[in-house]
Amino acid sequence: VRAEFDVRDVVQEDRVHGSVYTSPEIFQREMDTIFSTGWVYVAHDSEVSEPGDYLTRQIGSNPVVVAHGKDGEVRVLLNRCSHRANKLCNAEMGNASSFRCPYHGWTFSNTGSLTAVPMREGYGDAFQGVRSELGLAEAARVDSYGGFIFASLAAEGPSLTEHLGGAVRAIDRLLDLSPTGTIDLRANWMKHRHLANWKMVVENNVDGYHALFTHASVYDAVRPAKVSHVPSKTAVVVRDIGDGHSEIDYAAEYRRIDEEFVWYGRTTREKLPKYSAALEKRHGPEKTHDALVVGPPHTLIWPNLFLAEMNVMYVEPLSVNETIAYTTAAMFPGQDEINQKSLRRAEGAMGPAGFLIADDGEIGMRNQAGLAARDPEWLRLSRGVETDVADETGIVNSDKSAETPQRGFYRQWAKVVGGADAPAATTIEQENDQ
Ligand code: FES
Ligand code: FE
Repeated sequence: VRAEFDVRDVVQEDRVHGSVYTSPEIFQREMDTIFSTGWVYVAHDSEVSEPGDYLTRQIGSNPVVVAHGKDGEVRVLLNRCSHRANKLCNAEMGNASSFRCPYHGWTFSNTGSLTAVPMREGYGDAFQGVRSELGLAEAARVDSYGGFIFASLAAEGPSLTEHLGGAVRAIDRLLDLSPTGTIDLRANWMKHRHLANWKMVVENNVDGYHALFTHASVYDAVRPAKVSHVPSKTAVVVRDIGDGHSEIDYAAEYRRIDEEFVWYGRTTREKLPKYSAALEKRHGPEKTHDALVVGPPHTLIWPNLFLAEMNVMYVEPLSVNETIAYTTAAMFPGQDEINQKSLRRAEGAMGPAGFLIADDGEIGMRNQAGLAARDPEWLRLSRGVETDVADETGIVNSDKSAETPQRGFYRQWAKVVGGADAPAATTIEQENDQ
């Protein structure tokens, strides 16, 4: 099948074909490539900090259990009984030393090994010999950075460090703001079912263009005098970090807008004195000032993790037109003063009736409906091509509303989905532009 697929039919340098959002075959191919060969975000250290802690998650179409084993190791086990493939663990989270299958009662320890088979005699003597092979399958590789745990179902491939590349800076940037240098994600997750393709949900997070229109009513309501929805000349930029990662860097805006909870050194010190003092205790005044002025990241980490200020979001694709987005607020250990604000802000933006996620969810649904309305066509991602500036490391900066992140996303998509020998993206002629 792979040999017959030419990614140039659906992705080119400045455009993407609508079928990437609607084709069940392309969706399946993404599951077989992006979510089966690469690193995918699955959980955070703080959620499985104690032996026995577990969570159920998805890696593409594979249900998994992230389990902190009694031996101290965190594994990503396939959530599938080795008897007849029943989904083994059906709770979202908990603490357990073992998992018993609801179908015939086979029991597995939280390290994955098969520990009990009811009425085992019925299998005869030969069964003892194969029993050790009947443990749970597990992700070939599990690794973490800054507490964020990623798994890869493939034994071979780039290391997590290579995969994250320049995106580690985003995680560092978030951790720099924590007085302990760590975060915890134990406020639990808000779930949103989007009737949209997973890539639409993901890409939208680094679309600096839509916010001015999709969310105009929110911004007008909360900061009437300070922000106009006319694109400004601030130095806010979008950035293609490479390897599919990208971001909108709001540092310039944090400095410009003087309001509560904006990451401007002076304002943060006034509004959050306890937090600022604790941060200063860690870093000293100079580095504290720098961390606050740079502020938190707004970064998409390919393919499914998104850090948006103090919000963390990850997505699980359900089908070609259905996606679950999980969001929570990053908590700084022991910092109630700022944590309360982070929680309230996350609720307001991303909660069940959150203003931003409600807008984005509806836009995603309408987008999917539009794509289904007739034969898909090429969709243009050329905004900002002329303002892209690559620095000496290859990172591409562009104007706030440029589609530079999307171009980087689909360059990576073509590489991964098209296979190692995917053709380089080419700019096609601008025949329709005049
Ligand atoms: Fe799990 Fe039979 S399918 S015990
Ligand atoms: Fe939005």
